[in-house]
Amino acid sequence: MALQNTNPTKTAAWQKLQENYTNTKNLKVKDLFKDDENRAKKLTIKDNDFLFDYSKNRITEDTVKHLLELANQVDLKGAIENYFKGEPINQTEGRAVLHTALRAKESDTVLVDGKNVIPEIYAVKEKIKNYTESIISGKSKGYTGKAFTDVVNIGIGGSDLGPAMVVESLKFYKNHLKMHFVSNVDGDHVHQILKELNPETTLFVVVSKTFTTQETLSNATTIKKWFLNPEFKTKESDIALHFAAVSTNATKIAEFGIDANNVFPMWDWVGGRFSLWSAVGLSIALSVGFTNFNNLLMGANEMDEHFRNTDFSENIPVVSALLTIWYNNFYNAETEAIIPYSQYLSRFSAYLQQGIMESNGKSVDRNGDPVTYQTGTIIWGEPGTNSQHAFFQLIHQGTKVIPAEFIGFKESLFGDQDHQDKLMANFIAQTEALLNGKTKEEVLAELQEKGLSDKEIEDLLPFKVFEGNKPTTTLLINKLTPKSLGKLIALYEHKIFVQGIIWNIFSYDQWGVELGKQLASTVLKDINSDKNETHDPSTLQILEGYKK
Ligand code: F6P
Repeated sequence: MALQNTNPTKTAAWQKLQENYTNTKNLKVKDLFKDDENRAKKLTIKDNDFLFDYSKNRITEDTVKHLLELANQVDLKGAIENYFKGEPINQTEGRAVLHTALRAKESDTVLVDGKNVIPEIYAVKEKIKNYTESIISGKSKGYTGKAFTDVVNIGIGGSDLGPAMVVESLKFYKNHLKMHFVSNVDGDHVHQILKELNPETTLFVVVSKTFTTQETLSNATTIKKWFLNPEFKTKESDIALHFAAVSTNATKIAEFGIDANNVFPMWDWVGGRFSLWSAVGLSIALSVGFTNFNNLLMGANEMDEHFRNTDFSENIPVVSALLTIWYNNFYNAETEAIIPYSQYLSRFSAYLQQGIMESNGKSVDRNGDPVTYQTGTIIWGEPGTNSQHAFFQLIHQGTKVIPAEFIGFKESLFGDQDHQDKLMANFIAQTEALLNGKTKEEVLAELQEKGLSDKEIEDLLPFKVFEGNKPTTTLLINKLTPKSLGKLIALYEHKIFVQGIIWNIFSYDQWGVELGKQLASTVLKDINSDKNETHDPSTLQILEGYKK
């Protein structure tokens, strides 16, 4: 069944939300807490290890009610079923969107064109298990009989960001293999990494859903050439020991010369930016072992079940997505900050930038008409507490509404309680500060206590007042484990889905990325020729400047 096609701004709920916005925009959330002592409890969703507190947002109970009505009026429930059942909801590419099937239970059934894909998924998982165990244990060896010490993931976009983010996030759980990620077509990236490597003990994993991506093929070709350098005494046949590939494109992999035994298939119903659960996650399994990789998948499965089966009012991805709609479409907030209080999650925002912005950066609705409302949010963020000393000033006292999501963990991994308490004190205090701000009266009392003169106080006071009322949502998780990480990533995947459904856009294509790729190939031809194709004067000037 096709997705319902509703302009969200034409729903009754949207009109109510518009009225609600007008009536509530000047309210102070700190006053709402005074008015209702149960607000924090009411606007919190808890399960066995997630505490999702959205009570510090600029919303009333009526706002939540109307947002939930909006979800119903665009038939979110029906859309979720279409998504999980493998209907071709990626309509512009005629494909299902089934990353959820990759972490489904073995006993589940998911049909694609009438065929249950679960046995095939589990066969690939078994292959990942056997392959990674043999590399990690040292059973598989390189061309000189030595065990592998280093792994290089060659991919870009979804074939890089997901594995790179998870490998970094789960560094605590990793084994002896040193992981490297080559993505950029910038030759300095690949050559810098090669400089550190010994060909005898390095495994290369080429990851590309299409196996046509310029960056990945250039890097893989450069690495293959390096590997076959006579100085290393390698032969063509040694490639079979040192190269593996993940792709839907078996023909192109064969052309590249990778041994069929080292080829891991994926499917066109898995989008690149949602593919880390497939064999694209081979580097993850190599880094932390198959059991941890599988736990990551099982954590995602837990979130899938929560999302599919829980009433919207208690559904974390649904509520989280509705909050984005609220700020993006009623407060005209353009960005959202994601601030994990864990250094391990330093790549998390970069990963979500692709997931969220490549999915929902669309300006045409599901009818093919230009949208008349704002869609995709701009995502940014860095771990706390570093970010507090970088861009938090603007969140506290700048002129923009920036909804911020705070993600923290109750337990640290090394168990240094002194550091953990300090980290979490900051995590908690920042949302409190953003909520309450600091009034004129409070600043006055503070400056008087410091003994400043009346004149000094008058001069300083306006700069020290914090307006507060800055919206934040807090997600407190028990501990950073493969399972909780899987659950967290899946939360955002479903949030993306809900937003796309409400905005009435197609979240699973990315045509916008294609134009730049096409033009780059024309420019590359021009760079290597005496003549140029037709370009605008600025482009021509830069091109000529580069050629000289
Ligand atoms: O940036 C566009 C894109 O198609 C992404 O969606 C994808 O993750 C990336 O390029 C890499 O594609 P591939 O895995 O086919 O090399």
